[in-house]
Amino acid sequence: MDAPLARVQHCPPAETGGFACSLYSGLSKTPKEIACKFFYDDAGSRLFDRICELPEYYQTRTEVRLLKHHAGEIAQLMGSGVEILEFGAGSLRKVRTLLDAVEAPRAYTPLDISGDYLGQVARALAADYPALTLRPVVCDFTQALEIPELPGTPRRMGFFPGSTIGNFKPDAAMALLRRMRASLLGGGLLIGVDLVKDPVRLHAAYNDAAGVTALFNKNLMARANRELGANFDLDAFAHYAPYNAAAHRIEMYLVSLKRQSVSLCGRVVEFAQGEPVHTEDSHKYTIESFREMAARAGFNPRAVWTDEERLFSLHWLESR
Ligand SMILES: C[S@@+](CC[C@H](N)C(=O)[O-])C[C@H]1O[C@@H](n2cnc3c(N)ncnc32)[C@H](O)[C@@H]1O
Repeated sequence: MDAPLARVQHCPPAETGGFACSLYSGLSKTPKEIACKFFYDDAGSRLFDRICELPEYYQTRTEVRLLKHHAGEIAQLMGSGVEILEFGAGSLRKVRTLLDAVEAPRAYTPLDISGDYLGQVARALAADYPALTLRPVVCDFTQALEIPELPGTPRRMGFFPGSTIGNFKPDAAMALLRRMRASLLGGGLLIGVDLVKDPVRLHAAYNDAAGVTALFNKNLMARANRELGANFDLDAFAHYAPYNAAAHRIEMYLVSLKRQSVSLCGRVVEFAQGEPVHTEDSHKYTIESFREMAARAGFNPRAVWTDEERLFSLHWLESR
C-alpha cells in the first residue's frame, strides 16, 4: 500500500522561483556569480546525497556519528512533545535519529527549497512514522518565514544540520540565525558546523576523485539548460574549489575553459577564457568563533559536541 502522502505546502511559491532572473543578473556582474541555492532541484539534491556518501566527505559521517552518540542528551535538552522544524532538510535522513530519541515528538516540519525532492522524501518518512504530524514546506529560508503554529502550540525546536550555515558570509549567517531564532518562538536550535582544519583535507572533500562535486557544481548550468533552454556546454567549464585560508572558506567556481557565448532567455552572455563564475562558499569556524557568532545572533550557546579529530561540531543553542 502507498504511504500516506505528506501534503507539501509552498510558502509562497514566488520566493522559490526567480532562477532565470537571478541567473541572468549574476552572470551580468563582474565577477560573475550564481546563487548556491539554485544547486538544489531534484537532480542537485540527489547529487548532494551522493556527495554525502563519498570517502573524502567526512562531514556527513561525522555529524551522523555525533547525533547518534549524543541523541539521549539532545532529546533531554529538547524535551517531550515538541515540534521539530528543520531548515534545509535535504534527504530527511539525519532527523530520524532525533525522532527516535525525543519523547513523543508531536510534529516535524522540514523546510527546503527543493520542492519535488522534498515531496518524495517526506512521503518515505511519513510511511515510517505514521503517528507523526508531518508538514513539509517548500520555501526559501532566507526570506521571511511564517510557519503557522500547530493546535496546542507544542514547543518548537530547530534543527539545521549539514553545515549549511557555512554557505553564508558571516554577516548573512548571523542575520539567518536571527530569523531562525524568531521562527522558533523561544525554542532551541541544534546546528551542525564544519570546523577549520588541515587545508589538504578540506580541499579533498570538495575535489573528490570520483568527480561528484564537479557534477553537483555543473548542475547549475545543466539546470539552466533543462529549465530555461540555455545552451551551456558543460565540457567547456571546469570545477574549481580552492581553500581560501585567510577567509577560512572553500570557494567554489565554474571556470570557462575558452572564450565562449551562451544564450540564456533570449540574451547572450559572454565568457572570457579562464573567467570564473563564483557558485558557493563554505565557511569553516572554530568552536569558539561559531559560539561568538551565535551569541551575537541572540542565542545562548550551551552544549557543544565534537569528534576526537575535531572535524565537525554540533551546537545546542538556547533562545534568549
Ligand atoms: C548542504 S545541503 C544539507 C542537507 C541536509 N540538511 C544534510 O544535512 O544533509 C543544504 C540543503 O538546504 C537546502 N537549501 C539551500 N538553500 C536553501 C534556501 N535558501 N532555502 C531553503 N532550503 C535551502 C538545499 O535544498 C539542501 O537540501
